[in-house]
Amino acid sequence: MIKQQLASADYKPFAEEIERYFSQSSIVLQDDRNTIKEVEFNNIIFVVKSYKVPSTINSFIYTYLKKSKAWRAYEYGLKIPQFTPKVIARIENFNPRLTQSYLICEKFDADFNMQAPLFKQHPDKKVIFEEFAKFVFALHKNNVIHHDLSPGNILIKKSDQGYIFKIIDINRMSFEVLSTKQKAKNFSKLWADNEDLSTILKAYAQVANLDQKFINLGLFFNQRNKDRKNRKLKIKKALGLC
Ligand SMILES: Nc1ncnc2c1ncn2[C@@H]1O[C@H](COP(=O)(O)OP(=O)(O)OP(=O)(O)O)[C@@H](O)[C@H]1O
Ligand SMILES: [Mg+2]
Repeated sequence: MIKQQLASADYKPFAEEIERYFSQSSIVLQDDRNTIKEVEFNNIIFVVKSYKVPSTINSFIYTYLKKSKAWRAYEYGLKIPQFTPKVIARIENFNPRLTQSYLICEKFDADFNMQAPLFKQHPDKKVIFEEFAKFVFALHKNNVIHHDLSPGNILIKKSDQGYIFKIIDINRMSFEVLSTKQKAKNFSKLWADNEDLSTILKAYAQVANLDQKFINLGLFFNQRNKDRKNRKLKIKKALGLC
C-alpha cells in the first residue's frame, strides 16, 4: 500500500512515479544514510530525499507505533513554511510494513551552508552569525525548536536585503513554549568554537533581551556536547569500531 500526501493535485503524476523519477536523476546531492537528489518535473527542479529503508524493528515501529521520518518532515514543513523549503509531497510504501519513503521539496538555491562561516573563514561571518541568531530567535518566538540544528542543515543565501536562512532535515522538531535552557541548548550541535558561538549567543541575547547568564549557558551546553561526542569517539576508536 502506498500512502501519500501532496501540496497540490498537480504533483500527482510526480508522486505516483517517484521511483522512476528518482532513479533516472543523476544529480546526487548526498548519498550517505539517505540519498538526496535533484529531480526535474514539469521543467522545475525539486529536491527529493529517499530515506534509508528501515531495519526490521524500525519498520515495525514506523508502521504501528510512530510516524515515519518522511511523514514528520512533511507535516512539520507545513507548519513552518517561512523557515524551510516548501514541502511538496511525502510518499510512503507499506508492504505491509514501511520500506521506501520519499520527501519532495522545493529546491532552495543556497549559496552555502553554515559550515562556510563556521569552518571555512567566510569573510562576512560576523554578519552571518548575527543574522542567524535573529533567524533562530524567530523560530523560538514561534515556539519551534529544530533538534538537529547542525551546520549542514542550515542553508544560506545572500540577497540584497541580507542573508536568507532555511532549515532542512526537519523530521526532529518540537512545537512548544521554550525555556531559556532549551533556547541556549539549541546551539550546541553547531560544533562552533567559543568565539563564534559567543558572537551568535550575544546577538541572540540582544534581540531576546537576555543577559550574560544566557551566553554562559549556551557555551556550557556546547562544551558538554563536544565532550560527550569526543568521549564516544574515543571509546569507538579503542574498540576498533572506526
Ligand atoms: N530543499 C533543498 N534545497 C536545496 N538543497 C537541499 C535541499 N534539501 C537538501 N539539500 C541539500 O542536500 C544535503 C543533504 O540534505 P539533508 O540534510 O536533508 O540530508 P542528510 O543530512 O543526509 O539527512 P540525515 O541527516 O537525515 O542523514 C543538504 O546539505 C543540502 O546541500
Ligand atoms: Mg542533514
